[in-house]
Amino acid sequence: MSEHDTHDLVLVVDFGAQYAQLIARRVREARVYSEIVPHTMPVAEMLERRPAALILSGGPSSVYAAEAPGIDDSVFTSGVPVFGMCYGFQLMAQGLGGAVSPTGAREYGRTPVKVDRPGTLLADVPPDHYVWMSHGDSVIAAPPGFDVLASTRVTPVAAFEDTDRRLAGVQWHPEVLHTEHGQQVLEHFLHQIAGCRPTWTMVNIVDEQVARIREQIGKGRAICALSGGVDSAVAAAIVQRAIGDRLTCVYVDHGMMRAGETEQVRRDFEAVFDTLDVVDAEDQFLGALEGIHDPEEKRKIIGREFIRTFEAAETRVFGDVGAGGTAYLVQGTLYPDVVESGGGAGTSNIKSHHNVGGLPDDLQFELVEPLRTLFKDEVRQVGEQLGLPPTMVWRQPFPGPGLGIRIIGEVTRERLDVLRAADLIAREELTAAGLDRDIWQFPVVLLADVRSVGVQGDGRTYGHPVVLRPVTSEDAMTADWARLPFDLLEKISTRITNEVAEVNRVTLDITSKPPGTIEWE
Ligand code: XMP
Repeated sequence: MSEHDTHDLVLVVDFGAQYAQLIARRVREARVYSEIVPHTMPVAEMLERRPAALILSGGPSSVYAAEAPGIDDSVFTSGVPVFGMCYGFQLMAQGLGGAVSPTGAREYGRTPVKVDRPGTLLADVPPDHYVWMSHGDSVIAAPPGFDVLASTRVTPVAAFEDTDRRLAGVQWHPEVLHTEHGQQVLEHFLHQIAGCRPTWTMVNIVDEQVARIREQIGKGRAICALSGGVDSAVAAAIVQRAIGDRLTCVYVDHGMMRAGETEQVRRDFEAVFDTLDVVDAEDQFLGALEGIHDPEEKRKIIGREFIRTFEAAETRVFGDVGAGGTAYLVQGTLYPDVVESGGGAGTSNIKSHHNVGGLPDDLQFELVEPLRTLFKDEVRQVGEQLGLPPTMVWRQPFPGPGLGIRIIGEVTRERLDVLRAADLIAREELTAAGLDRDIWQFPVVLLADVRSVGVQGDGRTYGHPVVLRPVTSEDAMTADWARLPFDLLEKISTRITNEVAEVNRVTLDITSKPPGTIEWE
């Protein structure tokens, strides 16, 4: 990959913990480019990538377990700097002639650590601080040549380094927010011990991607479906920089957006994109959803209608490309999607497309995915870098099927209007409280098939409940219910029941994910 010539590459070797992605993000926060590789990748193959350093992640195993994932010891003598964290720290101790023992003394969660000798790794870190631990075995003797830097009540060797060989490790998880000074320790390894250059910035990403896409698409044409979300918008903006008006953006208005959002999205997009194809498909979608209650069926129908609409747009754009030609589809795939689908090498780029009416049978579709190496927060930074409007860059994640999956029951225009009114109030009040950026997403859900009795003025009401579902999250894989201030919740509740006639009850969802999902359908 070309970026490795201009940036140092750090490979995070994944030993099966959920922490590898977080480590890669933290490395990038230290302005060093990083990617995740599985521990099953042969060491030789890792070294072929010419990494400036390797990080061995934590993992769920004990180094003593029969099936314990390992790494060839040659990794420690290859001359490439290595940092071991948690399980990776123990592998390192074991591989270099130290001793690991199942002492039976476990440490989980917030644990006090004592810095006995700061060395380079723990320089300027307070002698007593708290770190996040998760281990059963302990390192009881550091390998020859290493300085022991820290200990805990039960772990005599909790951190070590050998700066000559550029090897270091900690028993804890420096990548998690609960570890104090974690980022500082990681940066000491990256910048001071491994000598990685802090050159990774969003400016580089844009320039590099633009050059790469120019090369990929050549004189071809590309199409991008804009969802209104930040990922597709940033992907399209990069591609537009590369190929200008040979990119056509398509925005399908399916009639299930939030209040004012289609107009907002349209305004924002028209200001940014040269060639925007807005398709008004509200009647088509709502017609197809008539009488449908089942969530999966709703999703299928919305997906199907979306493909139909998009194919018509493809025919308009690629109609004259001809057999054997290549059409380019821009997608806002992010790095977590790539890692989770087991990919990474980026080789399976050619997508066989179902036959699109009006297009030659053997027209090939090739994917253009400028965000494949990025995390969501980096995408937002790129968006800002590109000068995209803040409304676009900071928009909450919003599901493709829109409010269609936030109405429990049949989706109708009337119900959409009710939900839109309640949702707008929740959004307005969240913004007024200055909490937009603290909340990952704030769905409002209409229980359209449920009614309950209420009283308003002198009269009895028989209206619908809405559910407020504000959540905090880093990546939507897990989420927690947001502890919104009571006075804000009160304001939202009062306004909704006063201003939205059909709603007479407001409830709050206090379920984390797991076990609940963020959306209700
Ligand atoms: P859940 O409900 O599974 O949602 O916790 C995780 C994230 O995905 C979004 N989401 C969707 N996005 N099409 C989308 O484009 C969908 O069908 C869909 N379902 C859920 C959800 O808003 C959250 O950000």
